[in-house]
Amino acid sequence: MHPQLAQRDSKSLLDDHSTYRKLELNKKRNYEQDHSAMMDEATSLFVYEHCKDEYWNPEEFSILYGTPLWHEASTSQKILLNQLYWVAYYAQIISAEIATIYLNQVSAAGLYTHEDFRIVCDSLDLETKQERAHINAFKTIGEDVEWRLFGERLFTYPMRSLFEQTMVFADTNPAKDFWRMLQIKAFTLLSSSNAFLASQYLLVRGLRTLNGKLIQHKLSNYYTIHPDKENAPIPSKISYYHFMDESFHFNTSKIIGHEIPRSLDPPTAFEKLIINKGIAGCQRDHFNFSATIKGIFWYEPSLFAVLYKLFRSPHFGMSDAEAKVMLDRCFCQENEAIHQSFELHQTAHASYKAYVDSITYIDSQNRNMEIMGNNSIQKYLKHNANSLRAFKGS
Ligand SMILES: [Fe+2]
Ligand SMILES: [Fe+2]
Repeated sequence: MHPQLAQRDSKSLLDDHSTYRKLELNKKRNYEQDHSAMMDEATSLFVYEHCKDEYWNPEEFSILYGTPLWHEASTSQKILLNQLYWVAYYAQIISAEIATIYLNQVSAAGLYTHEDFRIVCDSLDLETKQERAHINAFKTIGEDVEWRLFGERLFTYPMRSLFEQTMVFADTNPAKDFWRMLQIKAFTLLSSSNAFLASQYLLVRGLRTLNGKLIQHKLSNYYTIHPDKENAPIPSKISYYHFMDESFHFNTSKIIGHEIPRSLDPPTAFEKLIINKGIAGCQRDHFNFSATIKGIFWYEPSLFAVLYKLFRSPHFGMSDAEAKVMLDRCFCQENEAIHQSFELHQTAHASYKAYVDSITYIDSQNRNMEIMGNNSIQKYLKHNANSLRAFKGS
């Protein structure tokens, strides 16, 4: 901004040299290394037949890994569970990225109302474009796999807006969905003209993707250490390309969410209230843990119907009674998978706390991640048993 002319802002991002430099570097490197064209190409070359007999992820990233079903599965069933992890995991990522596309634009609009914020907005524009390529890759492959294996959808869904749902398998009902939609609409209306709230969307985005960073790094490793990269399964390549792009997105979230408020006026009581509500919403969305899919905080009972379908399919060939007994053994009786996913949930809980530790304007309930930290294996088992009883009766 021109210092000689009257401006509305008392502070400028340009005065925070270290933050500005970080933003510049992150943007420059993401433009230079952009992997979205490579993802498009890999997607267009995907042929299920070429990689149907191999793993696409490290073995532990298979759905139901560590459950009784996993231990009793044949080699080919284990391959299927491994590939379905890829389909299911990225079905959730698609949903998060649909929300990201919209909220990046709202946030850029809000930040652009101040002088000197073009660099932040340009970074978000590039990220939005990348998310569209990511979604295209996950959706094209996920749908093709489900069509070939089952002739119907299990984890995928038709294109939709963020107002419908963010967690694909959530503990929800129409009333909760409606309330959630109203909250998002109110938040986007406010933040599209409020730079502080716009910057704090990125704080929440960073928080929501912390656990993803951990998992996606491990998924991308399958390709990184693959002995024959040229012929590695295309989905594993896509995991790698995706992680490359996302590592810049994680940085953007961290820089904007944590450092941009220094260049803005201190938040008002109302702005603090809104941001605390946003973080509490993230805690609620990440309250559950799932033995079906390590690293995604899905609500287990909402998966019963899909897993029942999987167990009854020709790939597992179970009878009605066998499928229901298996659901009980996997989700209502302590096993390795339940312990592993709970442990991962606790690791995420600790990293969320560390992430918001330096944020002065959030309340203690959010600082300690009390909502998220209030789950336990006992609660999980009890809840699953009640829900399974209802499922069996339905
Ligand atoms: Fe992405
Ligand atoms: Fe992203």
